Amino acid sequence: MSTLRRLFALLLLFVSTTLAQAAAPAMPPNRAASQADWWKHAVFYEIYPRSFADTNNDGTGDLNGITAHLDYLKSLGVDAIWIAPCFPSPQVDFGYDVSDYKDIDPKYGTLADMDRLIAEGRKRGIKVILDFVVNHTSDKHAWFQQSASSKTNPYRDFYIWRDGRAPGAPPNNWSSAFGGASWKVDSRTNQWYYHFFYPEQPDLNWRNPKVESAMFDTARWWFRRGIYGFRLDAVDTLFEDPALTDNPPAEGKDAYDAPAQLHVNDKNRMSEVHAELQKLRKVTDEFQGRVLIGETWTETPAQLAEYYGPHNDELQMPMYFNFMTVNKLAPQVFRERVEAIEHNRSNGWPVYVLSNHDNIRHIDRYGDGQHNVAIAKMMAAMLLTLRGTAILYYGEEIAMENNDPKRREDVQDIIGRLGWPREKGRDGERTPMQWDATENAGFNRGAKTWMPVGPDYKTTNVATEAADRDSTLNWYRTLIALRRSEPALYDGSYTSLDAKNDKVFSYARKAGGRTVIVSLNMTAMPQTVSLADEAGGSHGRVLASTNALKAVDLGNLKLEPFQAVVIEVEK
Ligand code: GLC
Repeated sequence: MSTLRRLFALLLLFVSTTLAQAAAPAMPPNRAASQADWWKHAVFYEIYPRSFADTNNDGTGDLNGITAHLDYLKSLGVDAIWIAPCFPSPQVDFGYDVSDYKDIDPKYGTLADMDRLIAEGRKRGIKVILDFVVNHTSDKHAWFQQSASSKTNPYRDFYIWRDGRAPGAPPNNWSSAFGGASWKVDSRTNQWYYHFFYPEQPDLNWRNPKVESAMFDTARWWFRRGIYGFRLDAVDTLFEDPALTDNPPAEGKDAYDAPAQLHVNDKNRMSEVHAELQKLRKVTDEFQGRVLIGETWTETPAQLAEYYGPHNDELQMPMYFNFMTVNKLAPQVFRERVEAIEHNRSNGWPVYVLSNHDNIRHIDRYGDGQHNVAIAKMMAAMLLTLRGTAILYYGEEIAMENNDPKRREDVQDIIGRLGWPREKGRDGERTPMQWDATENAGFNRGAKTWMPVGPDYKTTNVATEAADRDSTLNWYRTLIALRRSEPALYDGSYTSLDAKNDKVFSYARKAGGRTVIVSLNMTAMPQTVSLADEAGGSHGRVLASTNALKAVDLGNLKLEPFQAVVIEVEK
């Protein structure tokens, strides 16, 4: 590079960092950060480690890549990061097949890198949460290798082995969530082992006390290392019917074109699941301020409420997935679902999430192709101003979109290969984080990335958005700063407003005599709402708004298409 060009590049860097700093709102401290219930006022951020940042330029992300971006996460206002599994693994299910719970996969780094990440996080007030894959291990885990070797091996009962129903026939009709039978025969002992997911993910036998103590020992080992909690994977599959009763048939075909069945006997054995999770909570409570987050898919909010435990002695944070199944912008549905969790019978604290590594990003679920960014901003306002903990998924803060494979041969996620074209798998929501407009979006220094970079990376990236006052990134920062500094948003009550409106979702948050109104236009048309009576006043001060508001008249509040506003009511 010539000296002149280098000088120019330096100048550009200086201008863009200065601009970025000018545009970003100052992030107030999180007052609850050191308290036992810090997680209630926190923003969590899920990181898919393969896809966040690749510092050794081998095509997949690594722990040092996370450490390198802690300052970015701090500037966003993130209090805790949940890292999807980074333990040694054959990577059949990209880490959800763990072959050693107490180490780091060399692809991602070393235990020393993890220690450094924990320490650097602590310096910045960012806590590390790991993913605990409790239902199954990899078939390459030493426990399974032992278990499979003979019927009398001491580890035999770590897994679920049964005789077939007849020669060549599995013990029952259960089908795997990832396609095919959930049993695989092993010729060494001529018995079948059970796997709810892939055959390479044999289920642990949680009825064996030795499994329980080995797993609890793992939890303690990580807590002692300084992690602040676990996200518990697939908890509803921990136990199965010991009598192995067949599942009844359901209508139609499953995603893999096999006859569908009702999964009533191979999952959701709730009394045992709850009892086990309550024991794990006791282990967790041996360490101060530690938290359990659950991958808690439930049909109803009442079932979800059970995960808090009868005396709030189970999971502090069962994830409320009931927005994940909402695929259109329907205020009545969001209102109803928010009210359901607000009034849950355990009085448990709501935990909201819109996107994760298993589901189509919400920008695409709700996007209409024309207003995707506006919709992403409007949904961010909902996620970050409801009463509850928010869990973000990496990239949503810059409006990253799904980038689904177009051809079967490009698919990496096995369920996509097995289920193509009906089930395309989860690659689309797992593409590399878009850091800047350079090669590979700054994810690495040019090596072929494990998953293609989104085609919009030249404009949708952290560096470009940091310098743009109106970007999605700065909107997230504004909302997170506001939820920390505004008492009504921090821990105020929630009340739905204008409850019959099927175009605009409005609600009030109240604390210490302050009322803050949030109004979200979920349509592509301008809307007018009248909230003055319910809000207790017609004047207000705009705290945040996606579009300029001409006037704050809560009796006649005019909203642009997909506008989100946050207004403090003046009494
Ligand atoms: C959970 C994970 C998913 C994984 C599955 C099996 O649902 O979120 O990614 O494939 O469990 O471990």
